[in-house]
Amino acid sequence: MHNELWYKDAVFYQISVRAFKDSNGDGHGDLRGLTEKLDYIQNLGVDCIWIMPIYPSPLRDDGYDIADYYNVSDEYGKLDDLKGLIAAAHERGIRIIMDLVLNHTSDRHPWFRASRSDKNSPYRSYYVWSDTDKKYEGVRIIFGDIEKSNWAWDDKTQQYYWHRFFSSQPDLNFDNPAVQAEMLNVVRFWLTLGIDGFRVDAPTYLFEREGTNCESLPETHTYLKRIRYLIDNEFPEAIMLAESNQWPQELSQYFSSGDEFHMAFHFPLMPRIFLSLAENNAAPITEILKDTPSIPENCQWAIFLRNHDELSLEMVTDEERKLMWHKFAPEPQMIHNLGIRRRLAPILNNDRCKIELVNSLLFTLPGSPIIYYGDEIGMGDNLNLPDRNGVRTPMQWNSSPNAGFTKGEPFTELIQGQYGFQHVNTEAQLANPDSLYRAIRRMVHIRKEHHVFGRGSIHFIETNDTGILAYVREHGGEKIFMIHNLGNSIKSFTQPGEHQSEYINLLNNETQDMQSMKLNPYSYHWMKKK
Ligand code: NOJ
Repeated sequence: MHNELWYKDAVFYQISVRAFKDSNGDGHGDLRGLTEKLDYIQNLGVDCIWIMPIYPSPLRDDGYDIADYYNVSDEYGKLDDLKGLIAAAHERGIRIIMDLVLNHTSDRHPWFRASRSDKNSPYRSYYVWSDTDKKYEGVRIIFGDIEKSNWAWDDKTQQYYWHRFFSSQPDLNFDNPAVQAEMLNVVRFWLTLGIDGFRVDAPTYLFEREGTNCESLPETHTYLKRIRYLIDNEFPEAIMLAESNQWPQELSQYFSSGDEFHMAFHFPLMPRIFLSLAENNAAPITEILKDTPSIPENCQWAIFLRNHDELSLEMVTDEERKLMWHKFAPEPQMIHNLGIRRRLAPILNNDRCKIELVNSLLFTLPGSPIIYYGDEIGMGDNLNLPDRNGVRTPMQWNSSPNAGFTKGEPFTELIQGQYGFQHVNTEAQLANPDSLYRAIRRMVHIRKEHHVFGRGSIHFIETNDTGILAYVREHGGEKIFMIHNLGNSIKSFTQPGEHQSEYINLLNNETQDMQSMKLNPYSYHWMKKK
């Protein structure tokens, strides 16, 4: 497995351990359950699993509120179960990264309990306290549906504490060297245990400074580089993946000169994939990628369609957001904060052609793709569940009671109706050569045969139809042409300046003439010269 740039070619798979597979019948997914399902994950072609937080937590934010950085919550098992999972995954050539939540802890964390117990506690300065809530005015409120201020009042010690997310998630004070050292220890602890890296939660907000928006400050980057330095010196194959919801220029600062993050989610690209489809227009995608600075050789974008949060619409204009709400979230309960709290298949009306089309973009645009568990079989969501829980329901393995997820009482209601496990499950889709799972698996496996997808340059091909998105990816002498029809009418495509007409479509091994290609509605073609 030795390969320092492995993440550039990798296919990632994001998992909620609670929702994936229960091994002991208590109704909650756990680490042993996930270990049992590694064959499924391997078969799909996954190179790296990202597991969402498994730390002890009061679960006010599904584990992104950590009460102990050095342990696994009982619900998921023991540290030994995690070691078992890592060993079993590594045996299959699969790596595992986990969430690292630097910015804040749970209000139940012993540091915060001590901090709020007494103004003179040595832990007081682990958090950001103030006599007034007028400091850092104008800083945006991220969880605006629930929180009305970034300050929360503490009755006992008569001061406010700072929080960028829920008030139950007080921000750590990174101006305190003890906090900085503490978090380096956390990093070292998990990497020593065998974890292959981190999806770093909310790295944007570590420091606060008056007169700024308290985002992506120079101090923040300096500290993040310290983590990278530790990793490079002690765990050279481990990676850091940035969850920073910013515009491309600011986002690319997280790569710095190749000495900060290895990877960063391309947040502005994601909604534009949906927008391009909605408008039958390639421009949203081509423009944002043209605006994206090139990144150092050892860095990589992480591309995704959906994840465990709402489909974020922070990185679009007001007008584009309205259009996307109208198209993809027609009912008010589908909107959360600014985004859309639905899964991929329902967002696209369960339209198989559109689901495959956006997946084709996921697997062929520059970067490494991250599949959200269950989206490969077209799972649905449950809008009756609060917050973002509706997209975190149990994985649907088969049509037996409780979807084969648990022998006990599932921690949450299973999806009913059209997307219920009786109709949508892995067992049925593995057995059916025409299933969505098979189509996704095919794309994943073809992608894995060509370095061009993870490493190649991209060049957009001009066409006379704005609803055709065509580009060529090129690397080390290999060239693959990707042609997508974003609309619902038949179109034709001519590869300009190409006199040799014989191309092979990698997806079905058929020879096609690229001098006049017929593009069916929402079709996608991965073409290579014969
Ligand atoms: C981003 C995570 O994706 C989200 O689920 C969480 O609520 C916030 N960060 C706060 O940790």
